[in-house]
Order: sequence, then structure tokens, then C-alpha cells
Amino acid sequence: MKGIVLSGGSGTRLYPITKSFTKQLLPIYDKPMIYYPISVLLLAGISDILIITTPDDVHLYKKLLGDGSQLGVRFSYKVQEQPKGIAQAFLVGADFIGDDNVCLVLGDNIFHGSSLVDRLKEAVDNKKGATIFGYPVKNPREFGVAEFDENGKVIEIVEKPENPKSNFAVPGLYFYDNKVIEIASGITPSYRGELEITSVNNEYIRRGELNIVRFGRGMAWLDTGTPTGMLKAAEYVETVQERQGYYIACLEEIAWRSGFIDTDQLIRLGSVLKKTDYGQYILSLANNIDGGK
Ligand code: TTP
Repeated sequence: MKGIVLSGGSGTRLYPITKSFTKQLLPIYDKPMIYYPISVLLLAGISDILIITTPDDVHLYKKLLGDGSQLGVRFSYKVQEQPKGIAQAFLVGADFIGDDNVCLVLGDNIFHGSSLVDRLKEAVDNKKGATIFGYPVKNPREFGVAEFDENGKVIEIVEKPENPKSNFAVPGLYFYDNKVIEIASGITPSYRGELEITSVNNEYIRRGELNIVRFGRGMAWLDTGTPTGMLKAAEYVETVQERQGYYIACLEEIAWRSGFIDTDQLIRLGSVLKKTDYGQYILSLANNIDGGK
């Protein structure tokens, strides 16, 4: 399975911070925002990853992440000329996807929780159709919301509904079979001129091939698209890391635990960052194999 991180957009809810560059380069506590969605792909076992961003910023992402070989994975890059919708990722990324299935994660979504890896592995294993997630929120009007029939079967996803029929929002993490390229090619732009991911999901529902997995109470899904969202997410990350001593979205750690890199490479990566707590954490993993791995 291939992975795509969609990391462009206009970031207007973070103006003036994001007038000159994309928000996913901003920090959430101690690491760039894009580390968090990349970590989700790595935790799903996906090591071939396309980063889609704006023409102006692509060089910044290449500088930050390189070709991925340092982590034993592959990062490639494509440009979305204009932010014409999330579903455009499958058109921009069509060559990259090839004949594979694909997982799309939005560059400003953070997921964390004990059941996350199991849910990800199940979604990867589900080879046919689409798997998306439902996450209970207090303010469903601000999201794409799943509508269920009396048997709990999803019948429609409604974008920012006036009268939401459930409190299950659809987070920015989607798994699709290869038909997604054809489906994204066939949808028409919405009133706001965008190829909507909701249109793709509703087409999978129409074909009877959409599986929605509900995230439970123990999962955190944080949106970082506003100043308050960023601050709350940073506080969450700081609290968990300080309390537990385990880092959230330490890419070097996940690559090492996944067997993408060996301990020598982990030490090399940690040494470069040794002036920071982040680097010291990486080095501590290498020194404490029995406790960690
Ligand atoms: P949004 O948060 O919906 O939009 P945005 O980033 O443009 O921000 P704002 O509402 O503040 O103007 O986008 C969700 C994610 O998808 C985010 O990571 C940006 C990304 N995105 C693209 O890369 N290309 C697009 O065409 C769109 C619509 C979003």
C-alpha cells in the first residue's frame, strides 16, 4: 500500500502566520506538524510515501525530510498547483499510486491512542473498497459527518451539516482501493470549486463499498488548523511526552521499531539532534533496547 500526505492548502484560518508558507511546517510542540501524519503512515507499515504540497514550499519539505533513506523509507514529492480540493490528491498522485491501494492522511491531522495501530493494520488488511473513520465530536457542524441507518450502517457523509444526524465526524485519514483514482476523476467540483473527499466517500457508499470504523474514547484526534487548535495540540503532546516519557510521532523511533533502520542508524540520527530533548530521547532508545524494543 502507498501513502500520501496532503500538505498544501491555503491555511487561511492561520493568517497571518501562513501567508508565506504552508502550516504543516509549523511546530506542534517540539516537531513539525507534518511529522504527526507521517508517523501514522509509518505506524500502518507504509514506507512508500508521497508528499503533496504547494509549488512554493516543495523545496522546504525536501530539505526537512529528504528522500526518506535516512529512515529506511521512501519520500517523493508532487506539487498541487492550486488548493482545488482534498480529492485532487488522487489525480496529482495517480502515477505514484499506480496499481496499488492507497492511504491518504491530511498534513494537519494528529492521531494518538493505544488502539491506533490495531485500527490502522485492520484498514491496511481490508483490501477492497474504502475504510474511513468516525470520531465523536461535540461540534459536528464543522466537519464531514456520517449519517447512519437504524442498523448502524453508514448511508451518507454530509459536509458541514446544519442539522447533523450524528456526532461522528470523519477525520482526515482514509484508506482506498485502486478504484479511488477512477472515482476521483469522475466527481465534479463542489460549489466552492473543490474536488471534495466527501464526494469520493459518498460514491463508495453508493457502490456499497465503504467501511466506517468508529474510534473509541481512548483515541485523540486533534485538528491543528487554527491558533487555538495548534496550542491545544502542543499542550497535549507536551503533557503525554512529559508524563509517560514516550514521544508522539518520533519518526526515527517508529522507523527503528518497525525495522526500517538498525540501531547504528538510530544513533547517527540521534547524534545530529543531540542538543535537543528530541535527540536525547532517540539516543536513549538506542541505549535501552531491552526496555524499549
Ligand atoms: P483545510 O484545513 O480544509 O484547508 P486549508 O489548509 O486550506 O486551511 P484554511 O481552511 O485555514 O484555509 O485542509 C485540510 C488539509 O488538506 C490541510 O492539511 C491542507 C490540505 N489541503 C491541500 O493540501 N490541498 C487542498 O486543495 C485542500 C483543500 C487542502
